[in-house]
Amino acid sequence: MKKRILFTGGAGKAGRHAVPYLVEAGYEVHNVDLVPLDSPGVTNLIADITDSGQMFNALSMHRDFPDMEQARGEQSRAHQGRGPQPFDAVVHFAAIPRILIKPDNETFRVNVMGTYNVIEAAVKLGIRKIIVASSETTYGVCFAEGHRDFHSFPLEEDYDVDPMDSYGLSKVVNEKTARAFAERSGFDIYALRIGNVIEPHEYERFPHFFAHPEIRKRIAWSYIDARDLGQIVKLCIEKDGLGFAVFNACNDTVSANTPTRELARQFYPNVPFTREIGEFEGLLSNRKIREVLGFKEEHDWRKYVQPGT
Ligand SMILES: NC(=O)c1ccc[n+]([C@@H]2O[C@H](COP(=O)([O-])OP(=O)(O)OC[C@H]3O[C@@H](n4cnc5c(N)ncnc54)[C@H](O)[C@@H]3O)[C@@H](O)[C@H]2O)c1
Repeated sequence: MKKRILFTGGAGKAGRHAVPYLVEAGYEVHNVDLVPLDSPGVTNLIADITDSGQMFNALSMHRDFPDMEQARGEQSRAHQGRGPQPFDAVVHFAAIPRILIKPDNETFRVNVMGTYNVIEAAVKLGIRKIIVASSETTYGVCFAEGHRDFHSFPLEEDYDVDPMDSYGLSKVVNEKTARAFAERSGFDIYALRIGNVIEPHEYERFPHFFAHPEIRKRIAWSYIDARDLGQIVKLCIEKDGLGFAVFNACNDTVSANTPTRELARQFYPNVPFTREIGEFEGLLSNRKIREVLGFKEEHDWRKYVQPGT
């Protein structure tokens, strides 16, 4: 039987590529968002993550008419064969995706309460795999006032995250919420510190990035192809038994045609390196997803852009 995934925020920039990746891989995906995602094989529910009751409903109601028709089917585990088919995993991407869109306190409220509500409902309804979108902004520099140095390079998951803005802080709190529920339930809850998401059409911006490396300094030149992010989510769904885990979610190399050490020397001369680094290796390190999840990037920017442009 196909695995059923409830995906929040699937209509957004990252979700509209990650969701089709999961559908292509054989998953049934139900998008829960304020706006629908019109994509083959995807069902939608318009619901607000900041409302706990709506999240409990989203996770326990029928997802469409065929699900309702089959409700007495023997596959239903949740209610002894009489209820909606349960979800196998929840992927939570819905959020206010940065500062300066909404008032700071509203960004914090939506992201923190929304994540609490989604995780709480999933855990209390017995869904044993939950993946939440965290962010590279937890490393503290992206939305800091003025210039701020990172503590060290490369940025790895054991870093002492210390953002000073409401968005980055919301993601740190969300990681703690995930950890608390994983401790309480024994379920697997994985947080992805997602790098700068690049959609397929955005590779045309790379020559501009190459000419002006300073514009990607705050994100340490990170990027994640939105389809490769789909692969990371799939690998997380398939990897059981880690309890609470944090993963950087990014591609292998920097989104620049300048070598990594040279970028660091020019823009972060006082930041120490804690280990050797490859010539173009990402400063936001994806070593953990490669080693623990078996991630292999499919969309290196070099497939779409000439390095010399
Ligand atoms: N885009 C990036 O570069 C990037 C980088 C790091 C982390 N992230 C994180 O990845 C996730 C996806 O980012 P994105 O770029 O696709 O963002 P996006 O804004 O494009 O999509 C977010 C989706 O969440 C939905 N949403 C917002 N508030 C909601 C609510 N109250 N209830 C239900 N749905 C709601 C929106 O309608 C939208 O479809 C977010 O959690 C974001 O913080 C994004």
